[in-house]
Amino acid sequence: MQRVFVKGIKGGLGTTSVVANLACVLKKSDVDVIAIDLDAKSDLGLHFGLPWKYTKGWSNEASFEDALVHFHQDDDGIIFLPFGDSTDTSIDNITKMVNRCKKLNYSQEAWVIFDCPAHINLLHYPLEKNDIVIELVNCDAICHSLIYRRLQTLKNSDTDWKHYFLVNRYNSASTLEFDLFSLWQSTLPLMAPFFINSDEVIKESTAYRNVALNCAPYSVANDDFETLAGWLVSKATL
Ligand SMILES: Nc1ncnc2c1ncn2[C@@H]1O[C@H](COP(=O)(O)OP(=O)(O)OP(=O)(O)O)[C@@H](O)[C@H]1O
Ligand SMILES: [Mg+2]
Repeated sequence: MQRVFVKGIKGGLGTTSVVANLACVLKKSDVDVIAIDLDAKSDLGLHFGLPWKYTKGWSNEASFEDALVHFHQDDDGIIFLPFGDSTDTSIDNITKMVNRCKKLNYSQEAWVIFDCPAHINLLHYPLEKNDIVIELVNCDAICHSLIYRRLQTLKNSDTDWKHYFLVNRYNSASTLEFDLFSLWQSTLPLMAPFFINSDEVIKESTAYRNVALNCAPYSVANDDFETLAGWLVSKATL
């Protein structure tokens, strides 16, 4: 299984939207896709049509066997697991869940995508050599400084997973964003060579409790997610 951990370098950068849209595009290529919500906001299911009244998830169960009842399948065949509404949002609990997901009985070609909360340090996750970590950023000065700080911590720690930064919500009309993206492309080794544009389609499809591929397949947003999926396939070790 190829594990992908998606996380914002800070909150609100579009992590959950990226996980849901990426899952759908990957699923279109006929591989098994399992999306796991590790964030206590438990909002990933909303993108897959889960009614907001459904509040339970893996965090409400003591054992992995009990948590299995909370796996859902959406109309596209994506398997997803909501976080639930337990108040135990500790890294220990999350680590336990990430490790338990290894027990999932899917083919070698399956993709497991984790929606990771922004506030938990990636270095605390049980990451392994073949894992891919996508850290989302916006093209702004705050993320600029956060990226350099993150690079420093990565350099000082013993990491061997594949770590990339990906720009989300890129505004092509902004000179500052253009300049920052060009600077990052030429100076940062871990920057994905493309961006996800800012596109209302992402918000609109969420309003339909769905994703861009189903609501607007010819949109800029969906094109961008297809680029992301293709690029990830090229990085995967399946
Ligand atoms: N590329 C994009 N273009 C336009 N809107 C976007 C884009 N990506 C995300 N959004 C919007 O940004 C808002 C936040 O997105 P989302 O909930 O996915 O972020 P998040 O990083 O998961 O937030 P949190 O840290 O709170 O979990 C949503 O309204 C979403 O529709
Ligand atoms: Mg989120």
